[in-house]
Amino acid sequence: MTQNQASPSTAPAVPALSIRDLRKTYDNKVEALKGVSLDVAEGDFFALLGPNGAGKSTLIGIVSSLVNLTSGSVQVHGIDLRRDRSAAMRMIGLVPQEINFNTFEQPLDILVNYAGFYGVSRDEAIVRAEEELKRAQLWDKARMMSRTLSGGMKRRLMIARAMMTRPRLLILDEPTAGVDIEIRRGMWQTLREINAAGTTIILTTHYLEEAEYLCRNLAIIDRGTIVAQGPMRQLLARLDVEGFVLDIDGELPAQLPDIEGTIVVARDDHTLDIEMPRAMDLNRVFGVLDQAGIRVRSMRTKSNRLEELFVRMVAAGDAAPDDPGPAQVPDNTRTGTSAGGQA
Ligand SMILES: Nc1ncnc2c1ncn2[C@@H]1O[C@H](COP(=O)(O)OP(=O)(O)OP(=O)(O)O)[C@@H](O)[C@H]1O
Ligand SMILES: [Mg+2]
Repeated sequence: MTQNQASPSTAPAVPALSIRDLRKTYDNKVEALKGVSLDVAEGDFFALLGPNGAGKSTLIGIVSSLVNLTSGSVQVHGIDLRRDRSAAMRMIGLVPQEINFNTFEQPLDILVNYAGFYGVSRDEAIVRAEEELKRAQLWDKARMMSRTLSGGMKRRLMIARAMMTRPRLLILDEPTAGVDIEIRRGMWQTLREINAAGTTIILTTHYLEEAEYLCRNLAIIDRGTIVAQGPMRQLLARLDVEGFVLDIDGELPAQLPDIEGTIVVARDDHTLDIEMPRAMDLNRVFGVLDQAGIRVRSMRTKSNRLEELFVRMVAAGDAAPDDPGPAQVPDNTRTGTSAGGQA
């Protein structure tokens, strides 16, 4: 709904963020980004997913001018970052990964001073601060020392601060890291409201359920390279394979049976991982296992679908020679050791 409120239908839509062949090599020679290209449409809610060290914060750091790029281009609403950095910056609100306000100041002052730094008048800043603190459910804490806020409140204060400049593009680097599920849900609600009111949102997260719940489009980044990107639904539809974990009665035989079209891997002596095409008949699988003397006590699906996609995409680039990996797993599949909910 919010995507098309901006431009008249004739003009081609200018993306909120457009990145082309972005590279970053740090002084220590680490290639954090190896040619990343992506577009985020105005009004979108976009997730950037990737394991630790993938390059998410580097990308966000470059877009928000905290990190210098090595090569490539970044445009914010059509404005080239290298050509007019301050104009691009004015459109961005940033919620960085680490809490970075002065915890000896009060929330109200933190917000008002921040807006003042960006040229918002004091009177206007006070009006906005009340609005933002109320939205963040921190209005009753406006005059407390922010050091005394809980971790979740501090994170909400970071979002409130970023909104003080009324950014067109809000970028959040793991906004809900370490926040319990109830507070996380509250933050999701806030972010949805902000997005519904027209602000484009990009967030990085390790919580795949968060991305699945909030975001319409996503990119998965691994070791400085985008390994998948597109609409959430379309990417999930690519998953024509299902994974199951089977608990086995007794011990598994040394030699596992071959089941055509599936990948069967022993997770331990009593547990099997099976991947099979969605359309495949489970009875056939059980039949072969039964013949091999393997009795299935219980089964569960391996993980949620986005996690599955994530593991698959990240594993696809995972052929490093020093990575022993599961020996007989072909191509882009891996055993699901990361079924714990976070990647
Ligand atoms: N200032 C720096 N100097 C040198 N190397 C850096 C610097 N910042 C990040 N790196 C390296 O760049 C790579 C990407 O790091 P980055 O922080 O962008 O990853 P990330 O995806 O945000 O990870 P995480 O999920 O752990 O926050 C890593 O190998 C990291 O060690
Ligand atoms: Mg990071």
